[in-house]
Amino acid sequence: MIYSFFNFLYCFIKHVLYRFWLTIVALPLYFMVWRLALLEFVLFLEECFYLLLSPFFMFFKIRRYETTYGTIPFLSLRQISTLLDIKSTDTICDCGSGKGKCLLYFSIMFRCQVIAIESVSYLIKIHQCLSHLLGQQSRHRFIFDSLLTTDLPKADVYFISGLDFDNSVFAQLQRFFAACDLPIKIVCIGAPFTHLQCKKQDMVILPCSWGYCEIYIYHL
Ligand SMILES: C[S@@+](CC[C@H](N)C(=O)[O-])C[C@H]1O[C@@H](n2cnc3c(N)ncnc32)[C@H](O)[C@@H]1O
Repeated sequence: MIYSFFNFLYCFIKHVLYRFWLTIVALPLYFMVWRLALLEFVLFLEECFYLLLSPFFMFFKIRRYETTYGTIPFLSLRQISTLLDIKSTDTICDCGSGKGKCLLYFSIMFRCQVIAIESVSYLIKIHQCLSHLLGQQSRHRFIFDSLLTTDLPKADVYFISGLDFDNSVFAQLQRFFAACDLPIKIVCIGAPFTHLQCKKQDMVILPCSWGYCEIYIYHL
């Protein structure tokens, strides 16, 4: 009991310090792009809000959502953008877009069109509010559906944050990519897309909100 408490405390402090470090190294970017600073600040407030309320949630056994959640810091997104060579004419689709942090980064930095696919209504509502707050609503399209039941829209770049996706989601995505117009680029966070192993690919290891993680970029 005491061991698990101290283990929890150790992991918690380590995680807070890691997130603090991610914020410090991104400071120059926040000074240059105020919208990114505002976005990070609002997401920070939202996390603090849920951290404060978490004892209440635990007591009443309320779950925020069923899936694991993590996101990619702006500096890692900047490195990914360089590898993707993103242009303002590109359309970017995030398969499992969460609160839209990743897509908001691309629409703010590259002024490109973005499409969010998300199955948790609470997360997509936060994304919609943030896109209005940051004046990006005209660039964001929302699909509130499961990747298992919706047809993927046409895009130039697809993001797949698939650490918690099961094989049926990957199989569905594979069917779509096999039939869609090429060229496209696919970014897989945390797990390789095994069906695409034979395609041209880059792999980088970058900081994500939960720790360092492998990122695979496939060029189809
Ligand atoms: C790790 S989060 C990624 C968040 C976002 N891509 C980002 O980087 O900020 C994965 C997201 O995928 C969503 N998700 C999981 N399974 C899904 C499915 N079958 N259809 C649509 N979204 C799904 C989860 O609700 C979660 O928000």
